[in-house]
Amino acid sequence: MIGDIFEELELLRHEVEACSIEGESGAEQFRQLYLGSKNKLKPLFSRITEVEASRKKEFGQRINSIKQLAEERFEAAKQNASTSGSKMDVSAPDMSLPARDLSSGSKHPITLVMDRIVSIFGQIGFEVAEDREIEDEWHNFTALNTPDDHPARDMQDTFYLRDFTSRLLRTHTSSVQSRFMTSHKPPIRILAPGKVYRNETISARSHCQFHQVEGLYIDRAVSMADLKQTLLYFAKEMFGPETRIRLRPSYFPFTEPSAEMDIYWGLKDETDHRITKGTGWLEILGCGMVDPAVLSNCGIDPTEYSGFAFGMGIERQAMLLYKIPDIRYYFENDLRFLRQFS
Ligand code: DAH
Repeated sequence: MIGDIFEELELLRHEVEACSIEGESGAEQFRQLYLGSKNKLKPLFSRITEVEASRKKEFGQRINSIKQLAEERFEAAKQNASTSGSKMDVSAPDMSLPARDLSSGSKHPITLVMDRIVSIFGQIGFEVAEDREIEDEWHNFTALNTPDDHPARDMQDTFYLRDFTSRLLRTHTSSVQSRFMTSHKPPIRILAPGKVYRNETISARSHCQFHQVEGLYIDRAVSMADLKQTLLYFAKEMFGPETRIRLRPSYFPFTEPSAEMDIYWGLKDETDHRITKGTGWLEILGCGMVDPAVLSNCGIDPTEYSGFAFGMGIERQAMLLYKIPDIRYYFENDLRFLRQFS
């Protein structure tokens, strides 16, 4: 019946908290009830033998805190009675006291960074487009020009749903590109933030779930210069006006040409050397000109329209901005971690 004894403690605490104390005689009555030789805490003290060993300490602490509360209330009531003659009701709320600090929740660091990215691109006309996390192979891979035998499709990399073999947890937010293009006509200017999943071993640097933000811009005569200017604008807004970027040629099935964008982080201390592998440059995102085959797959005429796309991971940017050393902190819901962002 250990549950019961803890419950009794809780009831008693409420009683001590709520008990109204009026005047000197009220204070004396209160003292006898909760602090006197036959006080109501005593019988509970002696029942500590009922409590299992592992909770005895907690039990002791809780009962002591009730005793302390009673002492505090008694002292306050005594003082009040002596300063205001015994007429004042100390249990009545004092309306002149400042309000108690209500602790409210705070945004998760990933949300903070995503919100910031959304707002930066919002200023140049990108609208948020969100879509499903459970995708089919066509939108996640096929429409995006990913060959049937591409290693990313492998079960080692992708989580497939057991009952529907062609359904999977999206591996990137690029799936929102094919969703949006098949259902909207250009001009298209969207930003797709969201969660993605990959069959990865969990460690300090990688996780099986993480977040990305995807960008897609399709219109007439969109060029690589537009892409570069857009990304430079983003980098300066995100990391400061002095930020420099570089585009390194790369490969993605859905863009041609493709690039990865680095920002110059510098080599000020040892951590900078470690995270930039001694180069001073940090990779932030993948990007490129949307491959004409992808436009055709999604029903957009590539002779009329062109566009660019980019995709970036959020966890790493938040790690840089807030100096978070381990990706696992994001998903453990430890309040000591989360409260630092309020
Ligand atoms: N989907 C890629 C990934 O998850 C990132 C990416 C690269 C997105 C190039 C793009 C792009 O839109 O153009 O690694």
